[in-house]
Amino acid sequence: MFIDKTIVVGISGGIAAYKAAELVSRFKKLHAKVRVCMTKASCEFISPLTLQSLSQAPVASDMFATPSKWEIEHISLAKAADIMVIAPAPANIIGKLANGIADDIVTATVIATKAKVLIAPAMNINMYENKAVTQNIEKLKNMGYIIVEPAIGRLACGTYGKGRLADLDDIIEAVYENLLYEKDLAGKRVLITAGPTREKIDAVRFITNHSSGKMGYSLAREAKRRGAEVVLVSGKVSLAQIKGIETIYVDSAEQMYQQVMNHASNSDIIVKAAAVGDFKVKNVFSGKAKKDKIKNLELEKNPDILFELGKNKNYVLIGFCMETEDLELYASQKLKEKNPDFIIANDLTMDGAGFATDTNIVKILHQSGEIEDLPIMSKDDLAKEILNRAKILLK
Ligand SMILES: Cc1cc2nc3c(=O)[nH]c(=O)nc-3n(C[C@H](O)[C@H](O)[C@H](O)COP(=O)(O)O)c2cc1C
Repeated sequence: MFIDKTIVVGISGGIAAYKAAELVSRFKKLHAKVRVCMTKASCEFISPLTLQSLSQAPVASDMFATPSKWEIEHISLAKAADIMVIAPAPANIIGKLANGIADDIVTATVIATKAKVLIAPAMNINMYENKAVTQNIEKLKNMGYIIVEPAIGRLACGTYGKGRLADLDDIIEAVYENLLYEKDLAGKRVLITAGPTREKIDAVRFITNHSSGKMGYSLAREAKRRGAEVVLVSGKVSLAQIKGIETIYVDSAEQMYQQVMNHASNSDIIVKAAAVGDFKVKNVFSGKAKKDKIKNLELEKNPDILFELGKNKNYVLIGFCMETEDLELYASQKLKEKNPDFIIANDLTMDGAGFATDTNIVKILHQSGEIEDLPIMSKDDLAKEILNRAKILLK
């Protein structure tokens, strides 16, 4: 949510200008105050009236228009902005901004603002690959502008390649990250596990659990928003992959163990939010096994990932514990035996806690013996709480 934040959207003359209408509407739905400024060329592509209606505010498109009250339009917009988003940003405005040119309302506002400026290029692939454009984009990055990379896909001119305006979700995510998040985990590497593991019985059956992966994905997203380099080792889940995060999909506990061990020594923080199966089938059937054969499955122990990670740790280690009874007792045993720095314990039987919910109710047990009781909160908010505590323990 962008409550109490003003987003100034600058629209330039490209075919993707129509998408700016949807972007403005999405910002409004997220409770932002939105002000729009448009180049003259962009008004050929989309009417200021549309943007005025969607932003519920006057649209600035003429630097020299007589103002209705005494204020210089581009200066007042520049001051009002908590963040500016130029979407779409065609080759022309990229070139102008890279060279400090301020000859229209959008470029003048950008150059007058102290707020962060996000630029979302959108153009034909040949234009995008043109040396002048690539050099101008590099120059803008070095000047501190934030570039939201264009997407690959079918372009308006009929060709295929890189140059489409980034997905609106990605632009909104970039605004979230840059407007609402301090980069307090920049330079830190965070390894997170999420979701269930699956142990094969035969060619068609497997043993798994109800983990949705939501907690681990919330942690990964939060760590990324705070500037960390994130590796997510994920079991099979129905959640969308998070852009900007290295996601490694695994099936079995053994595969998860291998991937975690490959990345552990490079990590500053490891959060084990996956629901890992304790046992696997000793002799997996090659085809589809007949019913009588799977009646008495022989199981053997899977590697205990948290235990292995707790042995010689040079990272902050956080474990999870889910129980249906004696939560504190089992969680404190796990804390002692497996040596995480702290453990997040939740009781599956409580309303609002557990696997597929969007909320959780947890206790945090620390090695010092301290036990914190956290109120019910969203998994996103819990991810914040967990990483706040992990950050304090970083060397
Ligand atoms: C139909 C049409 C579509 C255009 N689409 C784009 C585009 O997607 N990207 C781009 O860089 N330029 C595009 N242009 C060229 C820009 O409109 C042109 O460079 C213009 O000067 C940009 O002005 P502005 O930066 O003041 O908005 C297009 C032009 C036309 C006529």
